[in-house]
Amino acid sequence: MVRAWYLGKIKDDQRLENHRDPEQFIDLKDLYVKSGVEHFEIPVNDYENNDYLQSLRQGMGITYCDEITCSKECMSNYEEKLRIFFEEHLHTDDEIRYVLDGSGYFDVRDANDEWIRIEVTPGDLLIIPAGIYHRFTLDTNNYIKAKRYFVGEPVWTPHNRPADHMECRQEYLEKLQSLVQQ
Ligand code: LAC
Ligand code: NI
Repeated sequence: MVRAWYLGKIKDDQRLENHRDPEQFIDLKDLYVKSGVEHFEIPVNDYENNDYLQSLRQGMGITYCDEITCSKECMSNYEEKLRIFFEEHLHTDDEIRYVLDGSGYFDVRDANDEWIRIEVTPGDLLIIPAGIYHRFTLDTNNYIKAKRYFVGEPVWTPHNRPADHMECRQEYLEKLQSLVQQ
C-alpha cells in the first residue's frame, strides 16, 4: 500500500524515510490533486490473471511491458544507475510502474514545488505523469522488482531539471492547474 509524506532535509542517507519534523503524511486521496500522480493497488498473487489490472492496462492503452530488478546483484552498473535515477528529471511520457517485490521511494514535486516522498511496496501501481519532476531511490532494503508499462514505443530518456521549456512540462502544468482548482 502506497504511503506518502512531505520530505524533510536529507541529512545523510537518501534511502531513509527522511520525514519533516514534525512528520507530515499526505492523505492518499489528495495525492492526485497535489501532483497528478495516480496510484492503484492490485494483489501480486496471480497478477497476470487479474481482471482489474487487465482493465487498467486496456484503459491506459498499454502496448509495452517489461520487468526491471534493481539490486547490486542484478545490475552491472548499479551505483551509476541509482545516481541517475536520483537526479531530478522528467519524461515526455507517463512513467508507469507496478511493484512485484521489494520497495523504494519515488519523490515527486507537488504544485508548490515541494518534494513528496511516495513509498511503494508489492501490489502498488503508480502512474507518474509526463512532465512532472521526479526521482527514484531504493530504500534500505536495496531491492525492488517492478513491471514497466508503456503506451507506444518505450522512451526512457530522462530530461534533467531544468526542462521547463518542454511541451510535456507545459501540458503537465496546465493539467495540474485544473486539478488544483477543482
Ligand atoms: C526512471 C525513474 C527512476 O525514470 O524515475 O526510470
Ligand atoms: Ni523517471
